[in-house]
Amino acid sequence: MNTPPLSVAVLISGTGSNLKALIDAAETGRLTLDFRVVISNRADAPGLQYAHAAGIPVKVISIREAGSRELQEEQVAHWLHQSGAELVVLAGYMLILSETLVRPFVGRMINLHPSLLPLYPGLNTYERALENADQEHGSSIHFVTAELDGGPVISQVRIPVLPDDTPAELARRLGPNEHRLVIATVELFTQRRVNMLSDGVKLDGVSLEQPLSLNIEDQFE
Ligand code: GRF
Repeated sequence: MNTPPLSVAVLISGTGSNLKALIDAAETGRLTLDFRVVISNRADAPGLQYAHAAGIPVKVISIREAGSRELQEEQVAHWLHQSGAELVVLAGYMLILSETLVRPFVGRMINLHPSLLPLYPGLNTYERALENADQEHGSSIHFVTAELDGGPVISQVRIPVLPDDTPAELARRLGPNEHRLVIATVELFTQRRVNMLSDGVKLDGVSLEQPLSLNIEDQFE
């Protein structure tokens, strides 16, 4: 029996290159996804063009238009529930979610974060990795909990830090790797292989002792 498509909602604030990676992967047949809605808190988010081009319903819900942070979140929650999405992907969504918004989606909401969590939650991860003379940097995908960038980490991709790296150059090199990571990780959800435990992640019913690590051949180790 074929596994049904995974219904997804994607939240963005900016470029949307990870959203594009998911749309492309669905269009080529790598991922079996049913995009229910793309939500942005910014009307001018360039990534919205990818949703429009793919015919995905778009909701722009800004704090200014909604009137307050709480009202903005109420609308986001409304459209997420309305969408019926099984998985919510925060792909460069730059607002911090309150516990009220997160709670109903715990275990089915994931976030992409450009660091090797638990290193560097929050902003400016590239700068912090360079300041600390780290040998490697990377991206993580984690289940979202009320703690900022603090939920159980599912998967990571690593890249070396090079001697002449700047924050911008590190970000540029990480981008395509992060796209590979989001595709491979969402694929696990399409296969219904991942679950969240109270303090960790289960893959195929077995607790992960450490995050999955994506190798150069797009396989998890
Ligand atoms: C990514 O680096 C992601 O890790 C972070 O925001 C960035 C979003 O990039 N949360 P894009 O909008 O998908 O291009």
